[in-house]
Amino acid sequence: MSAAVHPDLDRFPLARSWAMLWVKEKAPPSPAERAATKGWAVNLDQKASLLSGKDMWTTEPVDGLPPAVLGDGPHGVRRQAEDADHLGIHDSLPATCFPPAVAVGSSWDPAVAGRLAAAVAAEARALGVHVVLGPGMNIKRSPLCGRNFEYYSEDPLLTGVLATAHVRALQAGGAGASVKHFAANNQETDRMRVSAEVDERTLREIYLPAFERVVKQARPATVMAAYNKVNGVPASRHPWLLTTLLREEWGFDGVVVSDWGAVDDRVAALKAGLDLEMPGNPGNDARIARAVRDGSLEEATVDRAVARVRTMVGQWRAERGDFDADAHHALARELAAECAVLLKNDGGVLPIGPRVRTVAVVGPFATKPRFQGGGSSHVNPTRVDVPLEEIRKLAGDRIVTTDPAGADLAIVFAGLADADESEGYDRTTIELPAEQVRLIRATAAAARRTVVVLSNGGVVSLEGWHDDVDAVMEGWLLGQAGGGAVADLLFGVTAPSGRLAETIPLRLQDTACHLNFPGEQGVVRYGEGVMVGYRFHETVERPVRYPFGHGLTYTGFAVSGLAVEVTGDDTARVRLTVTNTGDRHGKHVVQLYVATSAGPVRRPARELRAFTKVALDPGASTTVTLDLDARAFAYWDVLEGRWLVAPGAYTVQIGENASTIVAEETVELAGEVLAKELTLDSSVGEWFAHPAVGPELMRRLAAGTTEERHTGAAERAGLLRMVESLPLRQFLGFLPTPLPEGTLTELMALSRRGGRT
Ligand code: BGC
Repeated sequence: MSAAVHPDLDRFPLARSWAMLWVKEKAPPSPAERAATKGWAVNLDQKASLLSGKDMWTTEPVDGLPPAVLGDGPHGVRRQAEDADHLGIHDSLPATCFPPAVAVGSSWDPAVAGRLAAAVAAEARALGVHVVLGPGMNIKRSPLCGRNFEYYSEDPLLTGVLATAHVRALQAGGAGASVKHFAANNQETDRMRVSAEVDERTLREIYLPAFERVVKQARPATVMAAYNKVNGVPASRHPWLLTTLLREEWGFDGVVVSDWGAVDDRVAALKAGLDLEMPGNPGNDARIARAVRDGSLEEATVDRAVARVRTMVGQWRAERGDFDADAHHALARELAAECAVLLKNDGGVLPIGPRVRTVAVVGPFATKPRFQGGGSSHVNPTRVDVPLEEIRKLAGDRIVTTDPAGADLAIVFAGLADADESEGYDRTTIELPAEQVRLIRATAAAARRTVVVLSNGGVVSLEGWHDDVDAVMEGWLLGQAGGGAVADLLFGVTAPSGRLAETIPLRLQDTACHLNFPGEQGVVRYGEGVMVGYRFHETVERPVRYPFGHGLTYTGFAVSGLAVEVTGDDTARVRLTVTNTGDRHGKHVVQLYVATSAGPVRRPARELRAFTKVALDPGASTTVTLDLDARAFAYWDVLEGRWLVAPGAYTVQIGENASTIVAEETVELAGEVLAKELTLDSSVGEWFAHPAVGPELMRRLAAGTTEERHTGAAERAGLLRMVESLPLRQFLGFLPTPLPEGTLTELMALSRRGGRT
């Protein structure tokens, strides 16, 4: 089918225009035009042509260089054999649909991300894909973002650890990664134009650390530049993002690729650090060559990008062949079971025990499961587990019905339909569709016990029905084997071990960015700063339905023996013991938060700084050691332009979740004493706060006044507070006795020397 007549294209006007673009014609270069460059005889036009694709998915095969195929990603391979699009409209070859990132985020387990990615790599190679476009690693700023199902978490550490495991395993498996969407791409509304207005501390502490970790620790083949603008400049031609930060600061040496169709000014994008434009765009290739010829672009810039693309092409193997679809389906089931989150389990209604004789299974998703999201990540699954059938297989001699009336236990499969959330648009509400709420309530009224299993890519509200039911399992979107995984969890074949990677609020209005999402008139202001997700809820003590990190299981765990050892000026080692106090095997996520008010900036009430998932048999214990480096205590200082650990008290907290702390210990860190250079425009407060100059100034002021003897300490403190925001220059005018000549010059010099006399 031609793209232009595809009925869905009316919903996707961008696809309509790009559908015309994906095959480009190029005249072969004349021999005279060929110039030998380091043994590779290609001319400028050929080099430029390598800097955009040949078509929708393939790089240009220039002068014997093999083409490389890029394909979505991330939780399964979307390899299109014929009609191509980047919105998941046309079919792709069958591949395993593993749990999307929303589910993997809830596993809190890098091994889950890694095993998934290794299998995706094997399928990519079999399907002829060299670079798999993912993982998506944007932070969930609002529960409304239509692509939240493709992202891991509202927390940068959790996101970064999982994405790093994914990229390492994918690349170890022979397929390149493309971490996306760099950066501050946290909504779908106006996604190709909106400017995310974010201050640097917020970028550094919330929106960039996951990318930083993955670039430094996993060396992804490519980084995908986002569609949106960041502080007014399109991410695809943002010199600070693509060169200063990514390459010079973080040491990225791979290819920066555009999101599909993101480039608006090719030459500016190339200069800013964007190497490869996708899909193919012959007009822009010609623009690059012209710019070199007219002297507005240095050929060396082209050469650098060409070298990077060349290195990438040929680095990844895609030999084509088979993959083991059965084994991958079984893996998808195993991984999905690690991801579902048991939110509520009153009276231990789950797992379904022998006393339950009749089980009713209701709800649209029991027979037509929803297991992935819409858009570019849409995978054509090799098969799909149907929950009702999987439950029947495990129910043994229990009677399974679809009528809840009088049933011992009813399971309602509820959630969001495909059209409710997708790439390309954001939701406007977190409510479940009204008919789903009605179904849950009617079932709860008819059956003895009711369990709700949710399928949704973005957070949904549980209000209006939560208290009517006995158990709630948040299944997110679990991939093609989710039906089997849920059955395993309900019947206790596996114990749930997922934890929320995002807060479930009571009301949408309670979320931090509510007044600033999705922005207006082309701009979205990240006014909540670093107070995203639980950082906000915990800091302002706003109640939530379920906090970040929450999740139940079928056994119990206890934490004991927390010990925090300071190992340096700004580092610590944390030890604790975890014991399985229940009567069955289970997994527990140790969550370590750091709370502090040290330093000159407002800190969130607590921040996740380390975590690990442990598996324990009944009665067994294990000692967990977590090392905290300087970043676990640091904030981004905008005046210094770097990370800083302020001297002061830091409380290491072990949380059952972000709002329930079960053990804590406070330590003092020496940190870094900032000896600021003082001027006459520095405030009185800054002068007195200076570790060397402050006491000295106080001494000299005291020496010059007779008032001192009559003024008490409390009164002095009060006076100081009144004047501390005055620039010293003005304060000097209030002094009864002027300071001796030269005093201030001497003290300013002392401050410049960092306090050394
Ligand atoms: C999406 C990317 C995707 C690309 C190719 C874009 O619309 O934003 O995530 O990888 O299309 O399909």
